[in-house]
Amino acid sequence: MTDTLSTDILSKDNNSKKGIWIKTYGCQMNEYDSEKVLALLSKDYKLVDTPEQAEIAFVNTCSVRDKAEQKLYSLLGVLRDIKKEKQANNNTNYVIGVGGCVAQQEGKTIVSRSPTVDFVVGTHNLSLVPSLVKQAKEEGKKSVAVNYREEWEELSPEIEQYTKDVTSGARSFRALVSIQRGCSKHCTFCVVQTTRGEQVSRAKEEILREIKLKVNLGAKEVLLLGQTVNSYGLDLKPRIKFENLVREIAEIEGVSRIRFISPHPQEVKPGFIELYGDLKQLCPHIHLPLQSGSDRILKLMNRNYRKKRYLEIVQALKQKLPDISITTDIIVGFPTETEEDFNETLEVMKEVAFTSSFTFKYSRRPNTKALSYSIEDEVPNEVAHQRLLKLQALQDEIAAENNKKWLDREVEVLVEGKIKNKENSVRGRIPQGILVELISAANKNSVKQREILPGELLRAKINYTSAHGLRGELLDE
Ligand code: 5AD
Repeated sequence: MTDTLSTDILSKDNNSKKGIWIKTYGCQMNEYDSEKVLALLSKDYKLVDTPEQAEIAFVNTCSVRDKAEQKLYSLLGVLRDIKKEKQANNNTNYVIGVGGCVAQQEGKTIVSRSPTVDFVVGTHNLSLVPSLVKQAKEEGKKSVAVNYREEWEELSPEIEQYTKDVTSGARSFRALVSIQRGCSKHCTFCVVQTTRGEQVSRAKEEILREIKLKVNLGAKEVLLLGQTVNSYGLDLKPRIKFENLVREIAEIEGVSRIRFISPHPQEVKPGFIELYGDLKQLCPHIHLPLQSGSDRILKLMNRNYRKKRYLEIVQALKQKLPDISITTDIIVGFPTETEEDFNETLEVMKEVAFTSSFTFKYSRRPNTKALSYSIEDEVPNEVAHQRLLKLQALQDEIAAENNKKWLDREVEVLVEGKIKNKENSVRGRIPQGILVELISAANKNSVKQREILPGELLRAKINYTSAHGLRGELLDE
């Protein structure tokens, strides 16, 4: 990419641009990829709020559970109707693109199932998006680009820089930065292996470059992304330790908060635990997927740790930082899961006292080892459903209790945005990751006279807590 192109990009007038609508399902990795797509097209396109206003509708898909996949096809039905209506009005310019993990997994099938789709782009081929759009527009050609790529797909710094102008302010205070793609853990329930391939770590220099760029553009918080972030660098030559990467990031001026998702318990080494408490920028929060509290099920899932090890890690973290918040992912109803296994999960949840958790019913995924269980081994849907409800009720109870400790405490809040339908109120997070609502923020005194923007770091005092989060009032600046 030349300097000429970057000046050219930056000089474009936003009003003369056409619309692109992007729908992102799934994880933050997908959000990151959607930002890339936007950046790649931002020379000619700007984000719009509805698919009707757009000339390109791009759906970034998730296949981690069956539900997410079904959502894709119902959305494609809606987009097909919009396209047909536009065509009926002699507007033949509408382009529908599908990316992400379902695209990678299904490839051509998407176009045969939904013939109005113009292009399908896999998780390793995002840089092709501009040419796929061009082919669709100029030649009416349908394309499927889902080839595996060995190397890391870097965008030019100029293109990344441009993202700032087109993404919403809400996103730009938090820099999403991918540090690895794929995963080499081979969990038996998980589809990621087939959709994103084996782990490939990104070059450290590229990671640092992207962070500096985004911090210069106003980001306060860095969120490192990867399937198992703490195995970062094991595939690089020479090897680089995740801990050392994080320590280098903490030295970058302007980085106020660092988070990462998700570490894997198997890769938690002493050096990793040392980060907590050592680095003031590292948020006192860890999202550490448990998946199950039963050793038998953990083994069947090919999670290479057991309950005892998980609890040891938790204890070590709590010892370093008593206020640390621990969140997790749990699957119920994995094949052969008994009531006893499930009770063990409940026990671990109580013992750790998770701040919050993402809980899922097991879902059969294509190309996974767990598919080979016979029907008798499957947990009946109704049983799994009841377990899920029970787990969620316990989580709510624990969260309500945990959150009480914040009452009357002074906290730092990183503002994320306005609260819908509540005037003069903003929402944000404390370093522990817990949501805070700041009510009537614009009313009272000098601070509150002005509009509060996403990305501001404010002091607040908590005056209400519940299972779902905190409420507080702003303190004077
Ligand atoms: N069924 C249910 N939940 C799943 N997850 C991943 N694969 C499946 C599956 N087949 C959950 C895991 C993972 C989170 C991102 O999604 O808990 O940590």
